[in-house]
Amino acid sequence: MLNMQQATVKFADSVALNGLTLSVEEGKVFGLLGPNGAGKTTLIRSLMGLQHLSEGSIRLFGDMLPGSASSRTLIGYMPQLYAIYDQLTVRENVRFFAELYSVPSALINDRVDELLHMTELDNKADAILHTLSGGMKRRAMMATALVHKPRLLILDEPTAGVDPILRIKFWQWFRKLCDQGTSILVTTHHINEAEQCDDIVFLRAGTMIGHGTPQQLMDEQQVDNLDQVFIRLAEQTEVQA
Ligand SMILES: Nc1ncnc2c1ncn2[C@@H]1O[C@H](COP(=O)(O)OP(=O)(O)O)[C@@H](O)[C@H]1O
Ligand SMILES: [Mg+2]
Repeated sequence: MLNMQQATVKFADSVALNGLTLSVEEGKVFGLLGPNGAGKTTLIRSLMGLQHLSEGSIRLFGDMLPGSASSRTLIGYMPQLYAIYDQLTVRENVRFFAELYSVPSALINDRVDELLHMTELDNKADAILHTLSGGMKRRAMMATALVHKPRLLILDEPTAGVDPILRIKFWQWFRKLCDQGTSILVTTHHINEAEQCDDIVFLRAGTMIGHGTPQQLMDEQQVDNLDQVFIRLAEQTEVQA
C-alpha cells in the first residue's frame, strides 16, 4: 500500500524527514509514533501531496507521489489542526464533504446517518460546530474523512487533547474500520496508546528508530510497554533531537 524510499524533507534550518525507507501493507492499523517535532505531520503531508520531498520517493497504492487526483479519492485525511466549517452543523459538514468527494446523491443521506451513528453524534447532528466540544469536533472531522469510504484513513494526532474515554473509543473505531476493510495510518505522541496497532514506526528527529509489531518491539527491548521501548531506542540511536 505504502512504499517510501529514502524520503527526505529539508526546511531552511531543519531536516524534518531524514531518508525514510519504509513499507506498509494494506489491512492494518499502522501507527506512526514520536514526540513533537519528530516529523509525523511532515510525513503525512508528503503522503497527501501537500509537501514536496527534497529527496527520495513515495508510492501510495502503486502511484508515485504526488499522485493523480483519482488516487487521492482512495484516501480519507483527518489533519492535526481543525479543518471543518465552524458555522455549519455537523450534518451539513459531513454532507459538504460527501458532495466534494462526489458521493452519489442517492447514497448521501444514509452514508451521513451511518457515520453520525458510528461517531455517536446522532443527537448533535443539527448542532452548529462552534458550539461543540473539542472531542465532538474531532469525531465530526473523522466522519467527514470517511464519507467517501476511503481504502486508507490517515489521521494526524486524532487523540491529542481528547479525554481518555474518547481516546479509547477512537482506537475501537480504528479496529472496527480496519476489520471492515479500511486501512488506518494514525500518528500519536501518546506512545502507549499504540499498543493497539498491528505495526508501528518510531520517529525521532526525522529518523526512523524502530519498526515492528508492538509485541516484537517490547520483546526485543525486554520491556513491557511502548514508552520504555521508545526510551531504549532513543538511547541507542545517535540522533540530535
Ligand atoms: N513548513 C515548515 N517550515 C519549516 N520547518 C518546518 C515546517 N513544518 C515542519 N517544520 C519542522 O519540521 C520538524 C518536524 O515537524 P512536524 O512534522 O510538524 O513534527 P510532528 O508532527 O512529529 O510534531 C520540526 O522541527 C518543525 O519545526
Ligand atoms: Mg504533528
